[in-house]
Amino acid sequence: MRRINVGVLASGRGSNLQSIIDASEAGTIDADVAVVISDNEDAVALERARKHGIDAVYIAPGQYKTKMEPEIEQKMVDCLREHDVDLVCLAGYMRVVHETLLDAFPDRIINIHPALLPSFPGLHGQKQALDYGVKWSGCTVHFVSADVDAGAIIIQATVPVEEDDTEDTLSARILEQEHKIYPQAVHLFAQGRLKIEDRRARVLPQRQAVPARARSG
Ligand code: GRF
Repeated sequence: MRRINVGVLASGRGSNLQSIIDASEAGTIDADVAVVISDNEDAVALERARKHGIDAVYIAPGQYKTKMEPEIEQKMVDCLREHDVDLVCLAGYMRVVHETLLDAFPDRIINIHPALLPSFPGLHGQKQALDYGVKWSGCTVHFVSADVDAGAIIIQATVPVEEDDTEDTLSARILEQEHKIYPQAVHLFAQGRLKIEDRRARVLPQRQAVPARARSG
């Protein structure tokens, strides 16, 4: 069966991007990173992509801090389509995704969040968990929907919160798990094993062909 093409949107250091590239190069996932797009010209993620011979594209984000105007988001869509992307992975992408992107890639955009959703959505999930006093936290890979951090959950991993944890130590423990479950989620998608039913993402036991993305429009 064919390998899928992944497009990654990243705003920063890109360690999750790296975990997907590494898994792809090691042949442990049936996916190739075809393009990395950033809204931040200086994102380390772009350097990581170039190092691996992956197209690295900066798209100037325009006037807003937390979102993009539809015309600019459309540029992203065009770029992802030019690279024949089947799956879009948000990896530390610091903007809210809007209809332009969601409609172009329905049920084909996933994100990683550093908390056990639905607890602690939004920014600083690790600090929110620490401040609340939970004993366990973790990370979540989920489909992206119009509501922030609220789409169907694909995989979660848990980590203990230690008595002497700081935001940094807890974040580091969570990040280790992020680097495991994000490539796994990409692989499940690549194998056609994710099926969204209502708000649940079911994981099918058997590999299925991933239908090619509609190429029109
Ligand atoms: C990660 O903690 C991820 O869960 C969150 O943003 C951070 C990105 O880190 N969405 P990196 O850029 O992948 O290193």
